[in-house]
Amino acid sequence: MARWSITLLIAGSGALGPSKENQIDAFSMHIADVQDADLDQLHALSISVGWPHRGEDWQFLREVGEGVVTNDEIGRIMGSAMWYRQAENLATIGMVITSPRLQTQGTGLWLMEYALNELEGCNLRLNATRAAQRLYHSLGFTPEKTVFQCQGVVKDGAGAACDAPQGDLRVLTKDDLPAITALDGAAFGVVRAGLIDKLLAQSVGYGLFRDGALTAFALCRRFGRGHVVGPIVASNDADAIDVLSPHIKEHEGRFLRLDTHFESGEFAHLVTSSGMSVFDTVLTMSLGERLRKFGTDVVEGPVTYSLVSQTLG
Ligand SMILES: CC(C)(COP(=O)(O)OP(=O)(O)OC[C@H]1O[C@@H](n2cnc3c(N)ncnc32)[C@H](O)[C@@H]1OP(=O)(O)O)[C@@H](O)C(=O)NCCC(=O)NCCS
Repeated sequence: MARWSITLLIAGSGALGPSKENQIDAFSMHIADVQDADLDQLHALSISVGWPHRGEDWQFLREVGEGVVTNDEIGRIMGSAMWYRQAENLATIGMVITSPRLQTQGTGLWLMEYALNELEGCNLRLNATRAAQRLYHSLGFTPEKTVFQCQGVVKDGAGAACDAPQGDLRVLTKDDLPAITALDGAAFGVVRAGLIDKLLAQSVGYGLFRDGALTAFALCRRFGRGHVVGPIVASNDADAIDVLSPHIKEHEGRFLRLDTHFESGEFAHLVTSSGMSVFDTVLTMSLGERLRKFGTDVVEGPVTYSLVSQTLG
């Protein structure tokens, strides 16, 4: 890995003297591989910006992706950026964090420039928080669609739908992997076999089958404060509801999260009425060719009803 480094000049709070104030002249950081980073420090970094990731969530992201951290001179992690080569022609970027102490002084831009350099020639997609949108816009990313981060302690608002699925609804197994991967790929825009394989291994999944063919599915795994349902892929609201409903039932009284581009309609209504209210929004942005259409724009065929995560898309 090429060695990139930066020295930030940090303004102190006043003159030197026998007061409680002090002035720090300079602060040097260098880029290091996220794979070698201390997991507890990565965890502390995401907590410092209020993100819910556990150490295990960071570890999963390291297993499926690449990235860098910025270390100060004594090895403290002050920033991060990761990227995921979903296919030869598409990568997603995420986990872009600057320690609050250092924000608005160029670290985010530095990390992004490093990532863009590594990903030259690739079409890029990311989900931008409000704080990051100006940064990404300045790098040429353009907005695509709002993501609604829905979460909360769920109550069973799904009973009726679950009792009458529009096909055969069953738990997914490893044997279903090729069908899950193909359906996800049709919705996401590229086939991401490695990722779906790893996700299935740590998820409980429900699939809806008609004439033996998988028509919709929803995976659910541990994440952050509880569980997250994603991805959900289906061709219409009714099918999406069929595969989401058992997860809602199973997590009654517990914390569940779901990130979706759907703001209205029966699916969105079920999500919010079951207790997962809109906690925040982020903006899907892209640079290069857009390889996917969004649920609300597609007339026919499978679409992504909920993301794997904001980081992985
Ligand atoms: C988003 C984030 C990574 C930016 O890091 P940073 O080190 O502050 O970024 P930079 O100093 O390079 O600033 C880049 C641009 O973003 C702007 N910016 C930074 N923080 C901002 C904020 N909170 N609100 C609005 N704009 C902000 C800067 O002013 C700068 O714009 P300019 O070049 O026009 O002046 C940082 O605020 C952060 O970690 N936020 C919490 C986690 C997060 O939201 N990550 C983004 C995930 S998509």
